[in-house]
Amino acid sequence: MTTDRVRHKRHTSEKAERFTESVIREMTRQAMLHGAINLAQGFPDFEAPEEIKRAARQAISDDVNQYAITWGAKSLRDAIARQMKAAQGLTVDPETEITVCCGSTEAMIASLLAVADAGDEIVIFEPFYENYGPDAILSGARPRFVTLRPPEALEGDWSFDDRELRSAFGPRTKAIVLNTPNNPTGKVFSRPELELIRDLCVEHDALAITDEIYEHILYDGREHLSIARIEGMRDRTVTINGMSKTYSVTGWRVGWAVAPPALSNAIRKVHDFLTVGAPAPLQEAGAAALALPQDYYRRLATGYGARRDRILPALREAGFKPFVPRGAYYVMTDIGAFGFPDDVSFAQHLVRDLGVAVVPGSSFYNNPADGARQVRFAFCKRDGTLDEAASRLRRLRPRTS
Ligand SMILES: Cc1ncc(COP(=O)(O)O)c(C=O)c1O
Repeated sequence: MTTDRVRHKRHTSEKAERFTESVIREMTRQAMLHGAINLAQGFPDFEAPEEIKRAARQAISDDVNQYAITWGAKSLRDAIARQMKAAQGLTVDPETEITVCCGSTEAMIASLLAVADAGDEIVIFEPFYENYGPDAILSGARPRFVTLRPPEALEGDWSFDDRELRSAFGPRTKAIVLNTPNNPTGKVFSRPELELIRDLCVEHDALAITDEIYEHILYDGREHLSIARIEGMRDRTVTINGMSKTYSVTGWRVGWAVAPPALSNAIRKVHDFLTVGAPAPLQEAGAAALALPQDYYRRLATGYGARRDRILPALREAGFKPFVPRGAYYVMTDIGAFGFPDDVSFAQHLVRDLGVAVVPGSSFYNNPADGARQVRFAFCKRDGTLDEAASRLRRLRPRTS
């Protein structure tokens, strides 16, 4: 420990000591340091749609520059309610059931802080998007992890053991955190899987907090099913979504949580004291984005499907075993063939020596050893970026010693 850290140990909270900095964001910094191609962090390197950039500029010119209503501009909440009705057939009251936050990141932590107390338990599938672990800790709850197992055949789907899920639920379970389509695995949860989760939530009087920010990025004919649509779940679900991934604007920081009024009330209070509100002009642009025609979403999914089909053969050719994603824009891969001691040393080699940044698998697991044979690639990039990464990866060789 550095002298500075020793000196400040007394001043830093026990909570903050229990998790590390984000490995994903750290890999982005390393990519910049080494001039590497960043296939680590999930942000597009291509343009956002012109219509929504115009809407943002217009909102600033029109002086929509002061605080919006803390739980979100009415125009955006109305647009979210219309979109949820159109896409999932869900009727949501924009006045009482929607809280606009600074990204779905804030929507998740605000929701957990609003529902969990010390001693509560939160069920989380792993590998998991790395924020959920610290989110649970910050809320005071204890995370209970349930393993998603990679498919035996690389074309198959990640799955979980029903008994393991069942035994993760108990009298202290406050909620399960769900993410479908899933980061990092690309899994799209099926109706029977969601129905099992429903049965357990009902049996244990628990909530589902579902992160659906990849809702529109699906492949191979998969369809998105919000757990709020499963019978019995509407009143016990917090549905989280946002603009970052659907409209390629990860830097705008606009997301939202949709929940029944009493839950929304608690989420709104937490959100107000955390951040007051999301950027007002960008919320107006969000309303314009949600009004884009259906064709926009079809083109989004087709474009990502083509990028997936570009990166998968390149990864196979370089010696990876990629697990084919059914949604979202990541590929988890098995790196066993390269003979490195672990995922971190392998990722360091890729970023420093080959100029490609990826995320070590261990950052998606509670026990780092569980991810020691995996790394994740993000493919939300231009064709030229993916091709350059592929050509660099061709120089990859297994370790001989
Ligand atoms: C599953 C998941 N949730 C949330 C986020 C962050 O979303 P936002 O930019 O809306 O905070 C990410 C970003 O990679 C993600 O993969």
